[in-house]
Amino acid sequence: MKIMIIGSEGMLGHDLVDVLSAEHQVSTTTIDTLDITDIGKTIKTVKENDPDVLIHAAAFTNVDESESNPDLAYKVNAIGTRNVAVACQAADCAMVYICTDYVFDGTNKTPYYEYDETKPLGVYGKTKHTGELYVRDILNKFYIVRTAWLYGYNGPNFVATMLNLAKTNDTISVVNDQIGSPTYTVDLAKAIALLIKRSSYGIYHITNSDNCSWYDFAKEIFKQANVDVELKPVTTEEFPRPAPRPKYSVLENYNWKMEGYPKIRNYKQALADYMKLLKL
Ligand SMILES: NC(=O)c1ccc[n+]([C@@H]2O[C@H](COP(=O)([O-])OP(=O)(O)OC[C@H]3O[C@@H](n4cnc5c(N)ncnc54)[C@H](OP(=O)(O)O)[C@@H]3O)[C@@H](O)[C@H]2O)c1
Repeated sequence: MKIMIIGSEGMLGHDLVDVLSAEHQVSTTTIDTLDITDIGKTIKTVKENDPDVLIHAAAFTNVDESESNPDLAYKVNAIGTRNVAVACQAADCAMVYICTDYVFDGTNKTPYYEYDETKPLGVYGKTKHTGELYVRDILNKFYIVRTAWLYGYNGPNFVATMLNLAKTNDTISVVNDQIGSPTYTVDLAKAIALLIKRSSYGIYHITNSDNCSWYDFAKEIFKQANVDVELKPVTTEEFPRPAPRPKYSVLENYNWKMEGYPKIRNYKQALADYMKLLKL
């Protein structure tokens, strides 16, 4: 298939290019070659590339900065996604939109299903959610992939941050009352590669299996990295951030399961593979 990847320089984008190039003819754009806030250029570029499937992995991803710069977050995540959807309609291709667990408010005590009510708390979640609505309104052929707590080799992420902090700190405080599913970008890219083989369009929750708090995740990171550091569990209130975050945002990979796809591996196994790349 001809696949076009927007946001190919991002953390997920890099792995999407690697994974999909093995099987498909892949074309890419970065913010330097295509700014998705420009609707005319977006339509023109997508038409020229003429893909069968377009994967939109670009976004304004800084959750805290979105609170202080909501117009930019909206312009990229909502309007930009609308522009990509319009371009996919003009080019008659299917679209994959990468979305987030932050579309939920986190009041659930059990995993969120694809059909559960969305209620984003902060600007980032609201703008990403508006992007979802545009995709659903404009297109028939779309996969909305909600994922969470991403980490990968090609971008700043929690795992790298923890390992860096441990170099200069004996004690690290980590939030223990937000629960989610850490997800390795390579595993997500592989899942998307499977998903686009079928025309079973719709919303998919795709994360690594099992869940933990950020504190538990940090414990696992240091255990696997064999790093001795004192970890202090703290509450969200003790560690205030500009953007509100859902307390519980575990995503049930329900549609994925219902379509008969294989269970995505445990986050601890995925972490071990990522750690190998770091050559600690
Ligand atoms: N990271 C997570 O934990 C997480 C969790 C759930 C969902 N997601 C979603 O997963 C997707 C990929 O995330 P990621 O972590 O790989 O993000 P990322 O590393 O921040 O990559 C996003 C890319 O989009 C580019 N971009 C920003 N504004 C743009 C514009 N106007 N036009 C074109 N490109 C633009 C960025 O370029 P610059 O770097 O030059 O700005 C960057 O290369 C996003 O949709 C995100 O919302 C992420």
